[in-house]
Amino acid sequence: MTRLKNDTFIRALLRQPVDYTPIWIMRQAGRYLPEYNQTRARAGDFLSLCKNTELATEVTLQPLERFSLDAAILFSDILTIPDAMGLGLYFAAGEGPRFERPLREEAAIRSLIVPDPNTHLRYVMDAVTSIRKALDNRVPLIGFSGSPFTLACYMVEGASSKDYHQIKTMLYARPDLLHHILDITTQAVIAYLNAQIEAGAQAVMIFDSWGGVLSYAAYQEFSLRYMQQILAGLKREHDGERVPSIVFTKGGGLWLELIAESGCDAVGLDWTVDIGEARRRIQDKVTLQGNLDPAVLFSSPETIAAEAEKILASYGHGHGHVFNLGHGISQFTPPENVKALVDAVHAQSARYHQA
Ligand code: CP3
Repeated sequence: MTRLKNDTFIRALLRQPVDYTPIWIMRQAGRYLPEYNQTRARAGDFLSLCKNTELATEVTLQPLERFSLDAAILFSDILTIPDAMGLGLYFAAGEGPRFERPLREEAAIRSLIVPDPNTHLRYVMDAVTSIRKALDNRVPLIGFSGSPFTLACYMVEGASSKDYHQIKTMLYARPDLLHHILDITTQAVIAYLNAQIEAGAQAVMIFDSWGGVLSYAAYQEFSLRYMQQILAGLKREHDGERVPSIVFTKGGGLWLELIAESGCDAVGLDWTVDIGEARRRIQDKVTLQGNLDPAVLFSSPETIAAEAEKILASYGHGHGHVFNLGHGISQFTPPENVKALVDAVHAQSARYHQA
């Protein structure tokens, strides 16, 4: 058993009573922080930073030194899995992620294998162990993975995409091939997240960043179904504690009822939905995480406090809300505005948790 000094985030995920609404921020360790840029420069590049245990630990803790965040998130990337499958991940300066060997040929797809998380992805588990030690139970540590569909987008397109030409062509022309990729990737994600849990991750989140580009039927067949398999395969308890799970489909607002029944403890919301309406639609079955438009952080502390209040008020009284942005924080965010947000959420949310 571990004794967390601040377990507000875990309690909120499990829909237990809390004194205030906990908050963390997607991409909280990143380029908007000057100290992050300094550490990244020391590492060389982004991937070397992910693979350096000491420096990955350092950047994970940087936002916690500045802001009273209620959770830490492992510093890594969702593309570690396809990299470990041998696709050759690299980051071209200013262009985002790329693969040297995108999946286009049937033979390459049929020979994909599930990477062993404790060898090929050892550096991720080492980072988890090291971060847990450095946190000293101050706040919980979130582990994460991409969803199989989102990983497949990068594996097949070979880079970020605007039109999803390659993956959608495969989806309709050779659904059998895409299902094979998704099946192997699902097994990889289960092993990877369970290894993170063994190493000390106290909650896990599945980032389905591109599930929202699918049709209603295709979302269920090619994204949600595989996330359900992952949730069914996760270790639910470690070290005597429940390990809650969060599913975030960006652009999934029309499908919240379906996502809420996937077996997760919490659903992440992007900023396009009203959180109070979302709460009614899912009938309080799971916790909701979100959902401030990241662009609000370009404004002033007064506007930030007012926009945060709209979300707190819309969610209303009672438990089961984790505050976050509706997507990752922009690199152009002034850090002092993040402090304004975190402090506003803590100060203003207490009244929604009084009996
Ligand atoms: O939240 C955190 O602080 C944890 C770290 C984290 C990163 N990436 C670090 C990162 C997490 C949880 C991710 C997830 C991730 N990575 C997603 C899903 C979330 C989402 O945004 O929808 C996706 C799609 C990726 C793939 C990826 N990695 C892209 C598209 C990029 C380029 C993005 C950009 O802004 O240029 C990355 C690189 C990346 N991952 C950075 C960071 C801090 C920027 C790298 C740098 O320092 O230049």
